[in-house]
Amino acid sequence: MDVDQILSGLYSEAGRQDPYPWYAALHEHGPISTIPNRPEHSTVSAVAVGYDLVDQVLRDPEWYKQAPPGWQDQEILRTFQSSMMFVNPPDHGRMRGVFARTFTPRRLGALEPVIVRVVDTLLDRMADAGADGGEVDFVADFAYPVPALVMAEFIGLPESELAWYRQRVDWIDEFLDVAGKTPQRLALANQAAEELRAWYRDLIAHRRNHPGEDLISGLVEALDSGDVDLTEEELISNLIVLFNASFVTTVYMFSNGLPVLLAHPDTVAALPGDEPLAQGCVDEVLRLESPVHFLARAAPRDTVLGGVPVARDENVLLIIAGANRDPHRFPEPERFDPRRDGPPSLAFGVGPHFCLGSAVSRLEGRIGLPRLFARFPRLAVSQPADYSGSLFLRGIDKLFVNTGG
Ligand code: HEM
Repeated sequence: MDVDQILSGLYSEAGRQDPYPWYAALHEHGPISTIPNRPEHSTVSAVAVGYDLVDQVLRDPEWYKQAPPGWQDQEILRTFQSSMMFVNPPDHGRMRGVFARTFTPRRLGALEPVIVRVVDTLLDRMADAGADGGEVDFVADFAYPVPALVMAEFIGLPESELAWYRQRVDWIDEFLDVAGKTPQRLALANQAAEELRAWYRDLIAHRRNHPGEDLISGLVEALDSGDVDLTEEELISNLIVLFNASFVTTVYMFSNGLPVLLAHPDTVAALPGDEPLAQGCVDEVLRLESPVHFLARAAPRDTVLGGVPVARDENVLLIIAGANRDPHRFPEPERFDPRRDGPPSLAFGVGPHFCLGSAVSRLEGRIGLPRLFARFPRLAVSQPADYSGSLFLRGIDKLFVNTGG
C-alpha cells in the first residue's frame, strides 16, 4: 500500500474508528514519509510515526508552531495565539513560567485528598445507579466528572457552571479535529471563545474583590502586584487553553483505558494496594490508547529529516499515537504490559511544550483506577464502545458497564 492509500484509509470512517492498522502500515514506509498529492493550500508536507524522529523534532525548540493564516480575524485563533500552547519562544517561556509556578508539588499533594473525595463520591453514585443490575455510562458517571470536578476545584470554577462550560470546550475541540475546519465549526468555536472570555472577565473581577485559595485568585493577585509578566487578556487565553487541555484528554485516559484493563483480569485484581502497578497501568494505557493522536511542527529552515526533504516553514504531522506503537522502541507494540521497560511514551508530548498537567492526570489515574476496581471487582463492559470519530482527540465517548452488584 502506498502512502497516499494509507492516508486516505486513515481519514476514512474506518480509519477514524481504528487508525492503528494505518499507523502500522506507515511504519513499514519508515519513520517519516512525504505526503504525496497534498492539497495546494496545505502546508503539511510530511507525516512522521518513528518514535526517535518524532521525539527529536518535538525536543528541538527551533521547530516551531505555525499560526494559521488569518488568525487575527477569528476570536478562537486570537485566543490560541495568545496562549502558551500555541506560541513560540520567547512568549512561550514567559507564559508557561507563570503557570508552571502554580503546579508545584505542594499544590499537587493538596490535590490528592480532593481526588480521593471526588472519586469516592462518584463511585457511590455509580453504585446506586447500578444497584438494580442496570447499565451505567462509565464516561458520563466517572471518566468525565473525575477530571472536570478535580480541575474545577483546582482552578476554582463553580461546579454549577460545568455543563455550560463543557459545551464550549466541545465546540473548540470539534474545530481542532483534522476535519474540523468547516465554517460552521469555526463559527461555534468563535462563539465559544467569545463567551468564555466574557465569563472569565467576570470571574476575575469577582475574585479580585473576593479572593480565595484557588488558582485564579492567586494568579489575579500576582498580576495586580506586578509579579508576573502577563496581561489580563493573556491570562484569560491561557486559562481557556489550560482547562480545555485538561478536559477531554483525561476523560479519554479513563474511558480508553477501561476496556484495555478489563481484558487483563489478573492485573485488575492486583491493582488495589499496588501503587507502582497502578502507575504502570496508567502510563501503558496512555501509550497504547493515546488520547492525543498528533501534533505538528514547522521547519525552521530547509532540511532533510529521516531522508525526507522538508522545506522551510512546511509542517510535519507528528503522529504521537503511532510513535507510541513504534515496534523499534516498543517490542510487540500492541501488547498491554504495565511493567514494560523502554522509553516514556509521547502521549504527553516532549520538549518545551511537554504537557503541563501530566502529573495531575497521572495522579487521577493512579488514585482513581484502583479505587474503581476495589469497589466494583466484577465491573464489565455491556455494549460496544462508542468512539469520538476524531483523529486529533481520539477516545470513547460512551461506555456502558454493569457494576456487578
Ligand atoms: C491524560 C491527559 C492528558 C494528555 C494525554 C495531554 C496531552 C498533552 C500533549 C500531547 C501536549 C503537548 C502539546 C504540544 O506539544 O503541542 C500537552 C500540552 C499541554 N497540556 Fe496536556 N494532556 C493531558 C492532561 C492535561 C491536564 C490535566 C492539564 C492541565 C491541568 C493539561 C495542560 C496542558 C497545557 C497547559 C499544555 C501546553 C503546554 C505548553 O505548550 O507549554 N494537560 N498536553
